[in-house]
Amino acid sequence: MSSKILVTGGLGFIGSHTAVALQEKGFNVVIVDNLSNSSVDVLGGIAKITQKDPVFENRDLREKQHVKELFEKHPDIEGVIHFAASKAVGESVENPLLYYENNISSLVYLLQELKQKGSANFIFSSSCTVYGQADELPISENAPVKKAESPYGNTKQIGEEILADTCKALGDFKAIALRYFNPIGAHPSADIGELPIGTPQNLIPFITQTAIGKREELSVFGDDYPTPDGTCIRDYIHVMDLARAHVVALERLLNGQEKANFEIFNLGTGKGNSVMEVIKTFEKVTGQKLPYRIADRREGDITAAYADTTKANEDLKWKAQLGLDEALESAWKWQKEVQRREESDN
Ligand code: NAD
Ligand code: WQD
Repeated sequence: MSSKILVTGGLGFIGSHTAVALQEKGFNVVIVDNLSNSSVDVLGGIAKITQKDPVFENRDLREKQHVKELFEKHPDIEGVIHFAASKAVGESVENPLLYYENNISSLVYLLQELKQKGSANFIFSSSCTVYGQADELPISENAPVKKAESPYGNTKQIGEEILADTCKALGDFKAIALRYFNPIGAHPSADIGELPIGTPQNLIPFITQTAIGKREELSVFGDDYPTPDGTCIRDYIHVMDLARAHVVALERLLNGQEKANFEIFNLGTGKGNSVMEVIKTFEKVTGQKLPYRIADRREGDITAAYADTTKANEDLKWKAQLGLDEALESAWKWQKEVQRREESDN
């Protein structure tokens, strides 16, 4: 298999792991990234793991002309995995137009170019955020999409609608939206991982940065939720499992195995873990004591979310294979590697 696949945002957290998974399966990967939330050094990590350099295009998908040129330069692209987006929920509340511009116009420009080509095999990064606080757990794909709590969440809902409408209107257009639950972890080699800029907003990078001494202590946002230990519950999915799911979803489209030309799948482990369970597991697998304190609830947090993975298990024949232990172990190994790199830079 040597199809050429465009991976937008391929130097980012999930995109880089997916680029590795694609290259390991023999695909030719073209990465487009404007480095707004990543470093060009990630290319070296991908090449080190796979012994192959992906093609890299430093372009901004908000520029219609850039997108056009990209497809002119690579007329043989057979599939697109679209990760590129801005993803900080809080920032999206403060600057909604930035989010609507980046997350929506980039998607539309890509689809316009694909329309010119006449066909598309398109994988879209969606999020469990579209469910809000679901009425039933685990959350299946049939659960209603709730009014988005943030402009970021809204861009994912709108993105899915744009795809549904486009696939309906254009016969040869096929797309899959993957609704990720909480992606965490890193490649087991620690050659690539998550690189949060500034203070991490997400739990796992905050934990690893606290354990390594970069942050004083972790604030646990609320212990008075209606859950067994009072802290919120999430479905933490290893980025390696997530990356593999993208390859499977893409192959489903390339091989014509789809049941409809627009499909949606949840990607999670199916298991929920509370914040306290994550802390305890982190301490167990790393042997590190984690300083933490209970703080106020964070505005906008939901109580609990975890995936019903039946549809992905049955239709994609994909199942998460790695657990929380392995994910936290790999995140810690990656944090130590980041520290080593920072020290050798100074
Ligand atoms: P990330 O920020 O690490 O990666 C996104 C990449 O896209 C970055 O390298 C960034 O430089 C690039 N990019 C952004 N705007 C661009 C533009 N206009 N042109 C070219 N490149 C651009 O994020 P991630 O965690 O890897 O997330 C990937 C996708 O998955 C995003 O769409 C995100 O919304 C979605 N998602 C992420 C999570 C999560 O918790 N990480 C959960 C659900 C969904
Ligand atoms: C997880 C749990 C926090 C930090 C976000 C986005 C969502 C999706 C995934 C993109 C929660 C608690 C966190 C801290 C804490 N992204 N926490 N102290 O909020 O489930 O989802 O990322 O689509 O859209 O909203 O992930 O990692 O921020 O939080 O106690 O310092 O950890 O309250 O219960 P979240 P998270």
